[in-house]
Amino acid sequence: MQAVANAIAERISSISVSSTMKVAADAERLRSEGIDVVDFGAGEPDFPTPDNIKQAAVRALEQNFTKYTPAGGTAELKKAVCERHALDFGTDYKPAECLITVGGKHVIFNLMQALINPGDEVVIPVPYWVTYKDVVNYAGGTCVFVETDEAKGFTLTAAMIEPYLTARTKLVIINSPSNPSGAVMDRAEFEQVFRLCAERGIYLMTDECYCKFLYDSEPFSIASTPGAKDTVLVAGSLSKTYAMTGWRIGFGLVPPAIVTAMNKLQSHSTSNPCSISQKAAVEALRGPQESVGIMLAEYHKRRDFVVQRLRAIPGVKCAEPRGAFYAYPNVGVVIGKSGIQNSLQLCERLLAESHLAVVPGEAFGTEQHVRISYATSMKELERGLDRLHQFIVRNS
Ligand SMILES: Cc1ncc(COP(=O)(O)O)c(C=O)c1O
Repeated sequence: MQAVANAIAERISSISVSSTMKVAADAERLRSEGIDVVDFGAGEPDFPTPDNIKQAAVRALEQNFTKYTPAGGTAELKKAVCERHALDFGTDYKPAECLITVGGKHVIFNLMQALINPGDEVVIPVPYWVTYKDVVNYAGGTCVFVETDEAKGFTLTAAMIEPYLTARTKLVIINSPSNPSGAVMDRAEFEQVFRLCAERGIYLMTDECYCKFLYDSEPFSIASTPGAKDTVLVAGSLSKTYAMTGWRIGFGLVPPAIVTAMNKLQSHSTSNPCSISQKAAVEALRGPQESVGIMLAEYHKRRDFVVQRLRAIPGVKCAEPRGAFYAYPNVGVVIGKSGIQNSLQLCERLLAESHLAVVPGEAFGTEQHVRISYATSMKELERGLDRLHQFIVRNS
């Protein structure tokens, strides 16, 4: 049989498999061999989806709400998204400015496809969430990375961004709180970035995936700034806020012309997000919100514990995460020792020898770090941090 020439399309080679997904798969493989793995890789809440949300899904099934919906989501859910955003942040989006997607990743992917032309530059602060780089590359754009300072907790200022804005910049991406560092952007700085972008006709995408998980400041949305609607693009997700990672519901709050463009793409690719999940999402947004505060209080406790334990490992530094549920310690002390050349190799050795799964810093654009998700129980945190401590002491 003749092999197909150039079987895989070139555009696929511009992206790589999500490192966080790869870590999860490697950990799962060891687990299936009966090995007791501690998993700090998974970026998802360890809490179950709240019961009121699950019950709404049961009702949707019982009422046979199991057919196609409009590709860009139901009118009911769009309205619920706009209402929740208005209640939480004081914005005034209308359903025509809203699109429901198959999770937060999908809204970001579709946004890039809808906006980026070859050669367009997209400004991305480092460390970045792994997916931004790949979806920009896949759309034919050019990533322009802005370094942040670990000594200042990886926080981003407008002055850091400004020098990177050129005539080719189409979009700036801000993710606050940040995955992987937990850094939170100061409101005044964020507003300044908005002004810099607006003056130059540059879009500002705000990834609000972790917007409710802040430890020492109040949640806000840059979309509530007067005049923001023309250039600010909100990428939202219910995955983390309501412990709904598997349900796959995200949303965009963007100008109507962009909704139309994304809707077109969605109508030929995924069609609608799951109808049952959409009903559950309406309940998540309109029902009681207490579960969010309960999760936040638990993450806060874990954050304090994890940072204190990481800083107690000789040679390890850890900037204090101010939001989300990740710590991003600097483990450079062990790199270059015991045959470990980079953080990727460190993670492979940690998994193979200590049965601890963490994500290498290379996935997020830095080489001296690993990402630890503390969305897991205190008992697991204790076990995993013991393993990390021993591994680093043994090898440095
Ligand atoms: C920063 C950030 N944005 C967006 C997402 C997308 O989440 P999902 O597609 O699960 O809704 C994630 C998930 O890990 C994330 O960390």
